[in-house]
Amino acid sequence: MTFTGNWSLAHDDRENLDIIEVEAFFRNQLPAGEYPYPFWHNAGKWNDYEKMSTVRFYLNDKGRIFVGTRGKSGNEAARGQYAHVDHEPFQKDQWQWTDDKGQLQPTITLFSARYQPANPHLGRLDQTYRAFAAEMRQASCVGCHSPQNPSDMEQLTLLQTPSHAAGEIDRVIAQVEQKKMPLDDIGMAKEIDPKLRENILKTAQAFRNEVAAADAWEATRPNRGAVAFTTDANKPTAR
Ligand code: HEC
Repeated sequence: MTFTGNWSLAHDDRENLDIIEVEAFFRNQLPAGEYPYPFWHNAGKWNDYEKMSTVRFYLNDKGRIFVGTRGKSGNEAARGQYAHVDHEPFQKDQWQWTDDKGQLQPTITLFSARYQPANPHLGRLDQTYRAFAAEMRQASCVGCHSPQNPSDMEQLTLLQTPSHAAGEIDRVIAQVEQKKMPLDDIGMAKEIDPKLRENILKTAQAFRNEVAAADAWEATRPNRGAVAFTTDANKPTAR
């Protein structure tokens, strides 16, 4: 989002909550690969974000933000260049692609956006992720665990990008180990070749070890711009 610098304070007397309202517009002209979430996969969602003009932060009695919402009470005259744009049509179920420079997209969800370029684990992270993703593909994990949410999960677990997969990796290992995943089309635990299960687990563990090592390296660095994403606070959640 982009912020105009206009903001105001409000109070909800009924709930006794303080509210900070900030004027903001959705940056709708970025290349598709630079969004941290694939807003473009759903026209309704894209439109909702394009029309917003404010963000409201609700504070609890300890002065902490506990929820944020989008709103439309901003000044439309300040919208400027952030009016509607027609973006390229989204290809169904295509969550990753290679751009005309040969760069894998979306870049923002790849490790380069989470870790500093000097992180010595980047190469291994990439390799271990690709090996794990190849096994997941064989078990159709991403068919269900993507923003389209075909199986109507109440809490949507996203696995379609490296960052999402890294944030969920412990749960992935537990679910596959306990034979709770994958599911079949009617939502029952699906039997898969034991060799495939073993390979998913082996590659998932290798990826998890690399994520942990990369996080540990970042934690020792001063002024880090990247954020370790295995903490609950940064966990990607369904929107
Ligand atoms: C046919 C659709 C489908 C497929 C295929 C599938 N899942 Fe799931 N997955 C679900 C649903 C639905 C839930 C929510 C389950 C629930 O709430 O009981 C879920 C939940 C999960 C969770 C979160 C569980 C938790 O801790 O709450 C993880 C992790 C997960 N799946 C991993 C995987 C992995 C890894 C694969 C591939 C090996 C996979 N899934 C394949 C539908 C699927």
